[in-house]
Amino acid sequence: MKKAFVKSYGCQMNAYDAARMADVLGAEGYAPTDTVEDADVVVLNTCHIREKAAEKVYSELGRLRELKGERRRAGLDTRIVVAGCVAQAEGAEIVARQPAVDVVVGPQSYHRLPDLIARSRERRVVDTEFPVEDKFDHLPARRNRGVTAFLTVQEGCDKFCAFCVVPYTRGAEVSRSVAAVVGEAEKLVAEGVREITLIGQNVNAYHGLSADGAAATLPDLMRAVAAIPGVARIRYTTSHPNDMADDLIRAHAEIPALMPYLHLPVQSGSDRILKAMNRKHTGDQYRRLIERVRASRPDIALSSDFIVGFPGETDEDFADTMRLVEEVGFESAFSFKYSPRPGTPAAERADAVPEAVKSERLAALQALLDRQRHAYQRAAEGQVVDVLVEKAGRHPGQVAGKTPHMLAVHFEAPASTIGSVVAVRIREAGANSLTGELVQRAEAA
Ligand code: 5AD
Ligand code: SF4
Repeated sequence: MKKAFVKSYGCQMNAYDAARMADVLGAEGYAPTDTVEDADVVVLNTCHIREKAAEKVYSELGRLRELKGERRRAGLDTRIVVAGCVAQAEGAEIVARQPAVDVVVGPQSYHRLPDLIARSRERRVVDTEFPVEDKFDHLPARRNRGVTAFLTVQEGCDKFCAFCVVPYTRGAEVSRSVAAVVGEAEKLVAEGVREITLIGQNVNAYHGLSADGAAATLPDLMRAVAAIPGVARIRYTTSHPNDMADDLIRAHAEIPALMPYLHLPVQSGSDRILKAMNRKHTGDQYRRLIERVRASRPDIALSSDFIVGFPGETDEDFADTMRLVEEVGFESAFSFKYSPRPGTPAAERADAVPEAVKSERLAALQALLDRQRHAYQRAAEGQVVDVLVEKAGRHPGQVAGKTPHMLAVHFEAPASTIGSVVAVRIREAGANSLTGELVQRAEAA
């Protein structure tokens, strides 16, 4: 049997796309493999968001070239496919730089993979079109084995933050229809999925077509998904502060399946830098927004992305970021050193922050965010919380799952609890996850 190895870098949407590419190849008779040496097709689903991520691809391709040579000497063919955002951004450059690559395919064209692979036997192919047909209409049925699943509901971004490649690699904002999302969600639930994370580069700008022909908002979509019997939990990511509409804020109080967790990147706490980033909001506007979200759902856990060392960022600007973090308080966060990306406005700027300064600021910010994360985890000690059991734990007899606030918990329970929501008393906060013990339902009520 033919085998396909698919490796994904970067964001959750890439993980979703990688799974769908595996489905496309599966429909062509390729069994999935985790062993790259056995693969007849190797797909690297790449990320272009920061330089480090993009450069990783070329070192990986160097290794694949050798592997392809070894397999050829053994009489085996290997097709090497570069997909994702580096494929979209660099296209033919990849083929020029790495002779082992057979196919370059962008994020909107991967439903054409079988055809592209077939054609690559004649000559190497690059497909980075934004095709007129919708890839989602051409993908085979989804295969999913877990309790939780991502579901792409929106793609692309019209915001054009000055540092970001996404509007170029993923294109303009496009929303899938409510019917398409509900249809995919129903299939996931039929296969045992209990938690669905609605994903999009700007998911809270969702405006898909509803059954009555009007544009649905994200809360409309959430209600439709929550109505599917078997859906226990809904999450969504990633959101832009300026698209946090009133109905979405209210949804956090009104939709029981919607989990009390919000990933809402602010990037910086300095108004000067936010303006230079073209974020179109200030630090105070973000603070006020958070107040409104907390008024709707007092226990909501917050998460954010931060960039340090954006061009022109001074010590004072960075201090503003630290102040915002102190004031808002985050359960978790991702923070990055600014990385200039070709083609973005910020990359043209001459006032780059020295690497050493970026590193210092990143370390200070991460230390603060770590303290907040640990404090948040410790505050859970002794509480009884609902946990959706996702999988077997690392040790025999254990299972692992997540709290509504996205904290990872492991505890002793039979494997039969996988897929259900159980009450767990949190015993202790460890470095990255909590330990707990199963309690009787009545006790939890
Ligand atoms: N440099 C550093 N971080 C970036 N991000 C996006 N573009 C860049 C860049 N050029 C970060 C932002 C975004 C997250 C997905 O990646 O914080 O929210
Ligand atoms: Fe990039 Fe800004 Fe769009 Fe997020 S909102 S994808 S950071 S341009």
